[in-house]
Amino acid sequence: MINIALIGGSGLYLPVMLKNIEESAIDTPYGQVIYAHGEINSKRAVFMARHSRDHSVPPHMVNYRANIWALKKLGVKAIIASTAVGSLNAKMKVGDIVVPDQVLDFTKNRIYTFFDGKDKRVAHIDLTEPYCPFLRKMLLRCALKDSFVCHGGGTYVCTEGPRFETGAEIKMYKILGGDIVGMTGVPELVLAREAQMCYAAFSLVTNMAAGISPSPLSHKEVFDCMEKSKAAIALYIESVLAALAEFDEDCSCRHALDDFGGFAP
Ligand code: HPA
Repeated sequence: MINIALIGGSGLYLPVMLKNIEESAIDTPYGQVIYAHGEINSKRAVFMARHSRDHSVPPHMVNYRANIWALKKLGVKAIIASTAVGSLNAKMKVGDIVVPDQVLDFTKNRIYTFFDGKDKRVAHIDLTEPYCPFLRKMLLRCALKDSFVCHGGGTYVCTEGPRFETGAEIKMYKILGGDIVGMTGVPELVLAREAQMCYAAFSLVTNMAAGISPSPLSHKEVFDCMEKSKAAIALYIESVLAALAEFDEDCSCRHALDDFGGFAP
């Protein structure tokens, strides 16, 4: 059994902080998943590259159900996800980290549930607090030790992608209370909650959002920023994984589906 997992977003592929890394495959009802696993402080951890190692899977094509199901099957209880985001908030600058506490979902065409009615089960999970509060606190505690600015909350807007947003869309998201914008948080966090796992994310601001940035957006800008922040992020992840290895809170995320008969992979 492996209890902790890191899902790596754009630019985060090599879990350099894990020792004795091996790559394995696991079959799920939704397809096969490749993952890496290794040791941190003598505990086992899983690393999953959301877009695959060669960044060949765009955000709207990620097999979110397979990934989360695989982690559950492996025994994972707590997931930390990394995401790259654009910023709508002048205080959240390029190179800063945001640990979001809320979500606005503007995705259009994804599969949002394990419970699609086929086995006559329907589940309505509570997402009042979309991220695990214990994991969020842990992410903030770890960030205090490191060298970048970390924002302790913010509303993450999830868009469908893979295109970037229009200037008018960003204006609207800002009016609605959005602080950062990315393409992968949903349905990942929803499925993790359905699977009764703790889940929290940290987002690296790689660019100011469309219409706020003085120049047109490009994927290169996102990758260049990731590349620049790589060393600091690696140190951060190392302390996060070390803290996560000790995390064993029986929090409400792990009982999210109790009223619907639980979740068994
Ligand atoms: N929009 C959506 N996703 C992103 C952005 C953005 O500006 N930057 C990095 N991921």
